[in-house]
Formats: sequence, C-alpha cells, structure tokens
Amino acid sequence: MITVGTLTKIAVVISVIAYRSARVAKNTILTKHPFPEGYYSEGNFDIDCTTLKAPDLKYCEDATFWNLLDAQGKFIDRGLLISCDANRKAWNTVMGPLTDPAPHGSLWLHEPASNTGKRNAKPDAAKLKRIELKGYPAQHDFHPLGIEIYPSYAGNASNLYVINHARARTVIEHFTLSPSSPTVATHVRTLASPYFHSANSLALTSPDSFYVTNDHLFTRRIPYLGHVLPILESVLALPLTFVSHITLSPSSSSAENAKAPITAHEFSALFLAFPNGITISPSGTQVAVASTTLGKVFIYTRNPATNALTTLAHTVEVPFTPDNMHYTHDGTALIVAGHPNFPALAKVAANKTDVAPSWVVQIAIDGEEVKEAEFDRDAPVSAKGKVKSVPGFAVKTLFQSDGVGFSSSSTGLKDPVTGALYVTGLYAEEGVLVCRPSLK
Ligand SMILES: *[C@@H]1O[C@H](CO)[C@@H](O)[C@H](O)[C@H]1NC(C)=O
Ligand SMILES: *[C@@H]1O[C@H](CO)[C@@H](O)[C@H](O)[C@H]1NC(C)=O
Repeated sequence: MITVGTLTKIAVVISVIAYRSARVAKNTILTKHPFPEGYYSEGNFDIDCTTLKAPDLKYCEDATFWNLLDAQGKFIDRGLLISCDANRKAWNTVMGPLTDPAPHGSLWLHEPASNTGKRNAKPDAAKLKRIELKGYPAQHDFHPLGIEIYPSYAGNASNLYVINHARARTVIEHFTLSPSSPTVATHVRTLASPYFHSANSLALTSPDSFYVTNDHLFTRRIPYLGHVLPILESVLALPLTFVSHITLSPSSSSAENAKAPITAHEFSALFLAFPNGITISPSGTQVAVASTTLGKVFIYTRNPATNALTTLAHTVEVPFTPDNMHYTHDGTALIVAGHPNFPALAKVAANKTDVAPSWVVQIAIDGEEVKEAEFDRDAPVSAKGKVKSVPGFAVKTLFQSDGVGFSSSSTGLKDPVTGALYVTGLYAEEGVLVCRPSLK
C-alpha cells in the first residue's frame, strides 16, 4: 500500500533525478506576445463579447455547466455555476499571499434559460444570482476553487462539490443544489484527506465519487519553507504530485458513515508536475489532466468500470500554462484556458500590475487532420511554432487578450445550444466574459 508519507520520500528522490523537467516551456510562458485587446475566433470581440457583471463577482477561478435532464437522461436545459473569491488578493494558497482568510468567496448561478433549446437564449447579467450557502458552518472559511456538480435527473437534487482553500488546510465542501430552489446550496459535509491536501480541480465519476488533482506536494502553508518549496516545485516543474480518485459514503447513510465519509481512495496518476484542470470525456473512456508547469495536456485512457487511468494515451502541448479544461458536450474537443505569461500573472497576484493576458484554445480530439499551413492560422498570435503539432490533435485559438479586454483566463466553456463561449478570469476584476458567435 502506498501512503502519502512513502510517496513524499519517493517523490523527493525522483525530483533530484528528474531535474531534466526543469526545461519548462520557457520560450512560450516567459515571452510577452503581441496580443490584441481581444480576439474571438467566431466573431468580433468588440461586438460579440461582453462581460456579465455583478457586485463581488470577480476573481473567478472555475465554472461548470449544471445539466438538467429528464428521467431518461435526455437534455432539458443547463445552468452555469461559477466560483469566485473577491478576496483572492489577500488569500491565495497556490500563488500567495496568505494574509487574510476571513472574507468569504462566492458561488454564482447563471440561471438556465426558460426558452429551452433556442439559439437566442441570451446570456444575460440579470440571470446571474449569488448562491446562498444554507447550513454552512459558522466560523468556517470559504475560498472556492474547482467546482463540479452532478446532473439533475427529473428535477432531483444534485450533489455539488467545491474545493475550499480554508485557512488551516484545503478541504472539499459537499452541497446539494436543487432545480426547485437553484440559488440555495445546502451544505452536507466537509471532506478532508491527505489524498487531496492541495486540491485544485475535480471531475465527478458518480454522485458520490470523483477525481481530484493536487497542484503541489509542498504547500505554502508549510512553516518557514512555505515560501520556498512550492516555488521550487513550480519553477523546476518537479513531478512530485498526483491525482486521486475518492469514493464517499452516500450522504444519506448512517451516522457511522458520516464519521468516515471517505470509503475508498486510489492514486490515479502519480509523479505529475502541477496537475491543474481535470475533465472526463462524455463517453467516460478518457480523462484529461493539465500540467501547468510543463504546458502540456495529458490524455489518459480510463476504465469506466474501475475508474483506473490505464494508459497515458496522448500528450498535447499548449502555448501557455494551462489552468482548467472541459471536454465539449459531444467529446470532439477539449477547451483549455490558461496563462500565456506566467510572470505577468504572478505580478498581478503581488499587486505589481493590474492585468495578465488570456488565451483559450480548443484541442480537437476527433482525429481530424489539419494541414500544417492551416494550423491555428487565424489567431493574432498563433500556437503554430510554439507547440509541437500532434497529428489528430489540432490546437485552435478561441480567445486571446492582452489582459485589457479580459484578464487571466482560467476556464473556458462552450454552450452547445447557444454556441456561447464563457471565460472566467482568476484575477479578472469584473465578472465573466461571454462571447456569442456572430450570426453569419
Ligand atoms: C438523482 O437521480 C440520478 C439518476 O437516477 C441518481 O444517479 C442520483 O443519485 C440522484 N441524485 C440524488 C442527490 O439523489
Ligand atoms: C494586494 O492588495 C490587497 C488589497 O487590495 C491586499 O489585501 C493584499 O495583501 C495585497 N497583496 C500583496 C502581496 O501585497
């Protein structure tokens, strides 16, 4: 049995050997690219993109669709959930600082459209509602990062999991959210484990189980060395950390189970450098994990019966440090958002500058071949020449900004019904960006 303790020892040894991985994609992530204020691949940034704003809706790390299905699992409608922390500048366990954990972050719902299935079901700031956290323990911090929600079937409640960078340790909050009162999340329990001590992103495998990435082995909370070890781990891209699969006791079960909510854990992938976003393909046969410091997306083959990630099937480079990722609803592409200039992002975190650039790409995974001459040819700053092109995995830019148009993209999501592209920004001062394809 591998424990986290043993893993730490093995990891330290490996890190010494794995010095070679210090060849982080420096040429791409340290370069200042001549980005425009905003570029949107399916329209005109000035006309087709807007920022949905609400007070305190800022510094949003993650977003995910909430699918509302009928009893047979047929699609009815979808909402968009967003996790934000207006206090991120005073509390960021990944990038620092750790000065004030007290003010709470927030969850938001962009309500499902009532006129289902219409292409003109317009994203609208009036549909953004702050989610009330019912039964949330008093005195308990709330710094949401990765969020995932199980679909609702025939109006039943959905399990919602939220990674929470609380002051003493990172935990995962379990809530339920029901379509009958979609702006009230009811707190079920707080989960803690050494198997997600530095949790960043989640992907659900059932209402009661999930994969979770741990972005670092060494965290900033470590006394004295907390300023040094995580930075070395990042800068040298040391492959020290891991992805876990966690199984919970169903929340309705006995008080006995409530005391030990985690019934099983497995290491799904070991010795990764800064695993960040994680996502499962709609068919359930693939899992993609973003390695932030290597600038790579790893695509694993998954056994849906056991949840094991059996082989690393593909590695695709992206021209930035990738953050969160999502498969498109039909599984033909991965949408990856990230930070094309990491030093600029670190400067924003340190209050030395206001904005950092954004880049969102899609990686085609349907095997479609793209001629070398056409590889990301429309983007103002093309991925061509910055990444190795992998046959059958064409990278295409969906959105780009120098940071003025939209800062520090951390998640990109595309609504298959409206065609809208939503982008959240880790340090975006205001709201969530939405771009709608111009009607041709
Ligand atoms: C809602 O229904 C689905 C499908 O039957 C089921 O998998 C899920 O566990 C239910 N959710 C809750 C919270 O009971
Ligand atoms: C940046 O400014 C915020 C207030 O706007 C403050 O809380 C935070 O501590 C500052 N961060 C640093 C690294 O100085």
